[in-house]
Amino acid sequence: MTAADGAGVALDDLPDGLLVLDATGCITAVNAAAEQLLGRTRTDLVGTDVRRALPLQDTSGRRWWDATNPFAATAGPGPADTTAGAPAAGHPERMLLLPGGSELLVTARYVRLETGALHRVVVALRGTEERQRAESDAASLIATVAHELRSPLTSVKQFTATLLRRWDKFSDAQKRLMLSTVEADADRVTRLVGDLLDVSRVDAGRLQVHRRPFDLATLVREHVERLVLAGYDDDRFELVVADGLPELWADPDRMAQVVTNLVENAVRHGAGTVSLAIVHVPGPDGTDGDVVLTVDDAGEGISEENRPYVFSKFWHGGQRSGTGLGLYVVRGLLEAHGGGIEVSRSSAGGARFRVRLPAGEPAAD
Ligand SMILES: Nc1ncnc2c1ncn2[C@@H]1O[C@H](COP(=O)(O)OP(=O)(O)O)[C@@H](O)[C@H]1O
Ligand SMILES: [Mg+2]
Repeated sequence: MTAADGAGVALDDLPDGLLVLDATGCITAVNAAAEQLLGRTRTDLVGTDVRRALPLQDTSGRRWWDATNPFAATAGPGPADTTAGAPAAGHPERMLLLPGGSELLVTARYVRLETGALHRVVVALRGTEERQRAESDAASLIATVAHELRSPLTSVKQFTATLLRRWDKFSDAQKRLMLSTVEADADRVTRLVGDLLDVSRVDAGRLQVHRRPFDLATLVREHVERLVLAGYDDDRFELVVADGLPELWADPDRMAQVVTNLVENAVRHGAGTVSLAIVHVPGPDGTDGDVVLTVDDAGEGISEENRPYVFSKFWHGGQRSGTGLGLYVVRGLLEAHGGGIEVSRSSAGGARFRVRLPAGEPAAD
């Protein structure tokens, strides 16, 4: 058997190792990646029985080929892959061991004849480095999330402990300041946990929005007022609202999440004045068009090269802090409203995020 299919794609070009077995378990083809993973040549392997050539075990010591038993004389399902009576179609990726302890990620597909009898088995092999890389990504996500949670919680703990121990020593104004910091930190934790929960909803397209008549300008104004109360300089923010904005239907809690994320990014990743503007962009032929909110800052901005990535899950452009989830969730929320978001450059040279929400009452669904 040659290692090429009808379309001329050579099996040797595949990044994954591949073994083809006949119905008796005899190896009929081996590609180059498999030779490399197994450290054996194909002349060595082809024509031998896979149970002897590749004595895989799972981590509980089961001999894999005996446990799955694809070569059983009957076309019945193997014990490890029972699927309600139908003959097994193979097994998804499993981590298996070779003698000596080397690990392989193994996927098998049982190709059957119309009668259900086994025709051949195709086995894909992969080294475990890729899996380790994925696991270390997950580990670094856990580390960032833990870090992001710890700093606000540490501050909550310190302020509450100080207040409880020395309540009488502080003036009302000092107590108020400490408590508003505690409140802001608690909000940050809530937001982060909310974003984490929403990520899986965005992934699954299950994000629910409850649209009702909604005043975006008031939401943005109140948000800025809260930041100023929490200690930000009054002139750090600028808000311009156009006259005669059309009616907007949106989910107030979700829009608060959008505005909070964008303003927080402008403050944390950007610099200088954060300029917010709300305008109406009428649609063609007298249609309602969009309400557009822009959030500009005067920081370094985002390079043209990086702009296509900022809305990706986990992308954080090498920032040490941050989960890279905020903009992913923001975009998901806006799309669930039938709107969208774009990034460009602000006139001050920083980042500009342009949020678009369809004006008017949504069509009944
Ligand atoms: N206003 C901004 N100015 C510069 N860079 C930004 C701005 N907003 C977002 N970014 C970049 O986009 C990345 C992704 O943002 P986001 O999804 O909110 O994640 P996070 O804020 O947790 O890092 C940020 O880490 C940052 O590199
Ligand atoms: Mg963010």
